[in-house]
Formats: sequence, structure tokens, C-alpha cells
Amino acid sequence: MSQLLQATQPAKRPSALADRSTPFIFNCWYMAGFAGEIGRTLLARTILGRPLVLYRTEAGKPVALDDRCLHRSFPLSKSLLDGDTIVCGYHGMRYDCRGRCLEVPSQKHTPQGLGVRSYQTVERGPLVWIWMGDEAGDESLIPDIDDWTANAAWIGSRGYIPLKASYIALHENLLDLSHLSYLHRNSFGTPDYAKASFRVETDEDNGRFALLRDVVPTRLPPIWAKPTGLEGVDAARIVRSEFCGPSLHVVQVAFYGLDFPEDQRPDQMVRTAHLVTPETATSTHYFLYHARNFALDVSGVTEFMHQSLFKAFEEDRDGLEAVEAMIGACGGDVSEVSFTADRANLAMRRYLKRRAEAEAAARSVSTI
Ligand code: FES
Ligand SMILES: [Fe+2]
Repeated sequence: MSQLLQATQPAKRPSALADRSTPFIFNCWYMAGFAGEIGRTLLARTILGRPLVLYRTEAGKPVALDDRCLHRSFPLSKSLLDGDTIVCGYHGMRYDCRGRCLEVPSQKHTPQGLGVRSYQTVERGPLVWIWMGDEAGDESLIPDIDDWTANAAWIGSRGYIPLKASYIALHENLLDLSHLSYLHRNSFGTPDYAKASFRVETDEDNGRFALLRDVVPTRLPPIWAKPTGLEGVDAARIVRSEFCGPSLHVVQVAFYGLDFPEDQRPDQMVRTAHLVTPETATSTHYFLYHARNFALDVSGVTEFMHQSLFKAFEEDRDGLEAVEAMIGACGGDVSEVSFTADRANLAMRRYLKRRAEAEAAARSVSTI
């Protein structure tokens, strides 16, 4: 092999990194949906590779059950909701909201102990969370973003993007925002973004990884310049992107004009909760909640920022889906090279791999 080929051959990616073959992490609260999506109509949604049916009881409690009828696998989500029970649309098995079989219409006796699995759900403000772990979920571990998503000092909007890409790739996209200068060159990226200085904070024990980037001086793109009044002036764009767990990533950006003395800078920030729920190894439910703490009563700002932001998030969707298609065309997880800006991502992927494998090992011990 020539020197040149050796030099350009990508190093084999260490197996310590999570990838598409890594088991899902079940012991975690994931967002199952927005509260308004889950109602008295049966909703089919696959989470962590398991097809589920979601609905609300007549009293309003969200319910999540395995979607596969035990008899011949008819989807319960295509069946009939009768009070708080589901009557299978094929041969009529009836299940209660805990998944227990109450009736088999074709025989007098209902076998005891038959049922589909039900999952713990918790409704918090506009979000419904689900726990699919082996033991009961601890509600104190539900990610807490109420201080700004349910706070009158912040105003925002929400959205959902069905993403045909791995949830790990989505977290990587969010933790290294150097792609703003390229993937988002036509929306909220600026040419100087990728070259701006950054630092990394890692807390391997608690599974938190952050990348902080100060883009100073810069000119803000219209999405931020218009609502902050910082059009055409030298400004600072201070970004913190943090992986808070497998199901949540928070990106915060603060802005100020450089002509403000340090003690008079306005407190102008945006925050986005990227709520990441794996659907399959190569697809993700990507929920978003975005808010700002400025221009709260200025008409049209929420709509303007929502339209601009979701245009940018669709660029992420298109980029990540192109990556997923390329990896699929190459036969699955491939060797990659990594750079300094990937340091937080590599730590995050090592953490995901360790946690997933520890969970899978514990599961296999308990089933021996
Ligand atoms: S498939 Fe559901 S009752 Fe037969
Ligand atoms: Fe992006």
C-alpha cells in the first residue's frame, strides 16, 4: 500500500462508541408526544423499536400499550376504543388500560394472566413522557425544563419532525454546531461560526456533555438580528449546546451588541429543547420546543422566529437523512475520522455505549 493511501485511510472507529448497532437505552424517560396529540383517538407510535398504541382514558390519563394483539398480531391502534378498553378489530379480544385481557368473544372463559405490556406515562405541562425500562420509572428523573417552557418570562413555539436518521446522529448534530457555517449557510449560519473558539465540558459520571462557543465579533443572521434589534452591528453570539441525557438536548444562545458596556448588556436569550425519542435504529421522533426571553409582546416575532427556525431544522433533517442514506448504502456503520470539535461527541457516544451495554447485560442476567 502506498504512503499516500496509508495516510488517507480512515482510522478504524473505536468500538467503544455508540452506533446504530448499540442497544437502545430503556431506563430513561422519553417524550412520547405532545399532550394534545394523545386523546380519544388511538395513536400508533413506535418508540425504542416497539410499536405502541397511545390514548387517553375517559378521565384523561395517557395510556401506552404494546400495539400488537396477542392473538394474531392485529394492531390495536387500528381497533376500537370502547370506554377505557380496546376491542381488537380482528376477532374482538378486549384489553383494559393496563393491557389485561378482559374478554375473548369466541369462548366463555377468559384465560387468566393474558395481557399486553403497558408502560408508565406522566403528563407534565405540554409534554407526555414514557418509561419503557424494566423496573418502575422514578418520576424525579423526568427532564425538568419547566423553568422556561412553563414560565411567563419566556415565549415560544413547538414542532415535530419525523426524522429518518439515528438518534445518536441527531445528538452529534446538536453537540457540534460547527455545521452552521455549511449546512445552515442559507439560514442561521455565518461563515465565521465554524472557526470560532470553543470549549468542552464533560461530566461522564452524570452523562452531561456541553460544547460552548463564543462567536465574537460577528454579524447576526436575520433570524436573530431582527428581533434583537442588532441588525448591521458588531455583536456577540454566545452558544451553549448541552446533551442532558439520551432524550434531551438543550441549546441556549445569548446575544448582545459589542457597543454595550459589559454591565449594561441586555439579557437576550433563546433556548431550544430538542426532545429526542428513538423510533428505530435509523429513525427518530424529533420534538422541539423553542422559546425566547425578549420581544415578548412584539407582534409577529413568534411567527417569524418559528418559520425561520423550522426552515433551519429542516436543513438538519435533510442533512441527517442524507447521512443515514449514505451509511445504509455503504452497508451500515462505517469507519469515520474525528476532529477536535468532535471531542464532546466522542465522550457522549462512549457514555451512551457504556450505559446501553450495562443495561443490556443486566437484562440478560435477570432473564437467565
Ligand atoms: S388478532 Fe386480535 S383478537 Fe385476533
Ligand atoms: Fe443544525
